[in-house]
Amino acid sequence: MKEALVSLFLFFAFPLACALDVQVLDSDGQPIFPGLHYYVVASTSDMGGGIRVAKTGNSKCPVTVIQDKNGTAYGIPSKFTIPGISTLEIFEGTPLEVKFITTKPECVKSFNWTVFVDSEIGKHYIGVGGPEDHPGQQILKGAFSFYKYKVGYKLMFCSKDSSPPCSDVRLFGSLEEDERRLILSTNDDDGVVFDVMLIQSPP
Ligand SMILES: *[C@@H]1O[C@H](CO)[C@@H](O)[C@H](O)[C@H]1NC(C)=O
Ligand SMILES: *[C@@H]1O[C@H](CO)[C@@H](O)[C@H](O)[C@H]1NC(C)=O
Repeated sequence: MKEALVSLFLFFAFPLACALDVQVLDSDGQPIFPGLHYYVVASTSDMGGGIRVAKTGNSKCPVTVIQDKNGTAYGIPSKFTIPGISTLEIFEGTPLEVKFITTKPECVKSFNWTVFVDSEIGKHYIGVGGPEDHPGQQILKGAFSFYKYKVGYKLMFCSKDSSPPCSDVRLFGSLEEDERRLILSTNDDDGVVFDVMLIQSPP
């Protein structure tokens, strides 16, 4: 009986442990680390390039995160940190803060990724800066994480304040557009899931 219980425990515990402990790898197959700098780029160049910030709507400052249509443009690098935990390992599902690593424009307060609610397009989207950079829009608190996807990884954003709590990061709009916003959605009609690779950039 005891042995049966033990094997039952092993049967359930092991797949779970494996699923939780998969490190996120960069495009060279090396584990990614907090503090290092990475370009977040579409996994295949026919899906466009990397990400940067741009002006959208009537904003005077580039505070919206977009994907460049140009498949060979890497955009600007990002840094991933694990809030509150002093571990160096980033696994699939590890909650992360993301920050662009580059000289930010004067007009924006911080280059941390933040999720805003745009009532005009009815979508949650990724931007930078604080509430003063996105007047009239609500901020959704939460964390990003990576999960293995078709070619590379997808990004997910989870928040206690939304239902469902977790959504995929998708590209809003068609590839014909020069700039596609990064939005959060569980709905395939809202755009393709952003399938990315992480290319380490020199510090
Ligand atoms: C695409 O990006 C690359 C690298 O930044 C640049 O050299 C090239 O001119 C760009 N192509 C177009 C069509 O903008
Ligand atoms: C921005 O993110 C960093 C971690 O990358 C964090 O230490 C800092 O508090 C954040 N700043 C703001 C304004 O959220």
